[in-house]
Amino acid sequence: MKTQVCIIGGGPSGLMLSQLLHLQGIETVVLERQTRAYVLSRIRAGVLEQGFAQLMRQAQCGDRMDREGEVHDGFYIAHSGKMDRVDLHKYSSGNSVMVYGQTELTRDLYEARDRLNGIVIHSAEDVKPHDLKAANPFVTFQVAGEEKRVDCDFVVGADGFHGVSRQAIPANVLKEYEKVYPFGWLGILSRTKPVSPELIYAKHDRGFALCSMRSQVLSRYYIQVPLTDKVEDWSDDAFWEELKRRLPAEVVAHLVTGPTIEKSIAPLRSYVAEPMRYGNLFLAGDAAHIVPPTGARGLNTAGSDIYYLFQAMIDHYKHGNSAGLDHYSEKALARVWKAQRFSWWMTTMLHNFPDTSEYDQKLKDIDLAYLFSSEAAQSSMAENYVGLPY
Ligand code: APR
Ligand code: PHB
Repeated sequence: MKTQVCIIGGGPSGLMLSQLLHLQGIETVVLERQTRAYVLSRIRAGVLEQGFAQLMRQAQCGDRMDREGEVHDGFYIAHSGKMDRVDLHKYSSGNSVMVYGQTELTRDLYEARDRLNGIVIHSAEDVKPHDLKAANPFVTFQVAGEEKRVDCDFVVGADGFHGVSRQAIPANVLKEYEKVYPFGWLGILSRTKPVSPELIYAKHDRGFALCSMRSQVLSRYYIQVPLTDKVEDWSDDAFWEELKRRLPAEVVAHLVTGPTIEKSIAPLRSYVAEPMRYGNLFLAGDAAHIVPPTGARGLNTAGSDIYYLFQAMIDHYKHGNSAGLDHYSEKALARVWKAQRFSWWMTTMLHNFPDTSEYDQKLKDIDLAYLFSSEAAQSSMAENYVGLPY
């Protein structure tokens, strides 16, 4: 098989890039290790910055998002028994975020690929990129035991944190930066009305909690748990009781509980791989960097990678200008690191860390006190949360 851009990974990054390129007449093949049903069973975060929502529209798959997604102009931070609101609209010159689940967004991207007869090969096993430094790289893989090969101009590694693409970069070229947090998030989904029309991030002595949603009838809640906890340790009742302990009384009074329809624990980690280009391989999204979910930056940072890579490929194919590809890594990483800083800051401020000194604890408390006493600090928070410019 021959194509222009071979994309490894059919998550949001790979699908979005494939769709955008296809609309510009650039051929792609997407190789995805899992089945579509499996990809669409993963529950992920759900806050989109305007830039990402705009990309969805540009990719001609924003209709359902615009119909069913909720525009949020602010969110709450609960602390010391009270609720303070971050007014995103006021402090980011009228900007806002879109609450729309990543699972639904991925479904929309798959449907858009289907409409254009885009090539997405599922259950692709043992995917391997080759000759990345040469002008004609290729990718080999197997489907149902049969060996296949895609020849291409470029390989895009959009295969997530556990993918193979990053591993194709020699160890003496790849520099990895990592921070592993000593806790995870236990998340649940329940068919209940969300406790609040806007998200609530809660800082509490017992640990962090988050009240989020997928729609007005589907709630998503999280609590910080030690890494040693197992999902089986947490009955639905135990989850709700612990969540209630971490929320202000005025919120608990409105909390509707019910059976959970999904329950999982995700560890929190920050990670960046540099550079994001090696020869004719370009990394994008979780394949190159991940953040703890606290600032809702994961998918949004994948979005800016895709935007830069898409523009660079257009310049290359349509205008014979490869400067964008040459500067892709540098440009993407500049924004990636700002998202890393913001996610680290929000995570540090709102979570309980084992063995925190009293001094450090005081600083975290004062960070919040400062935030809500300073318009400049709220502007900084809002600017980062709605997404820094591309
Ligand atoms: N071969 C082919 N596909 C692979 C391989 C492989 N060896 N390894 C992983 N994949 C696939 C995964 O099955 C997955 O569907 O690559 C896809 C990667 O998707 P994501 O992990 O969702 O990563 P990405 O598309 O970059 O999405 C951005 O930002 O913070 C996050 O939660 C957010 O997942 C979202 C991400
Ligand atoms: C979610 O709804 O899953 C969600 C929302 C905001 C976050 C993280 C996760 O910061």
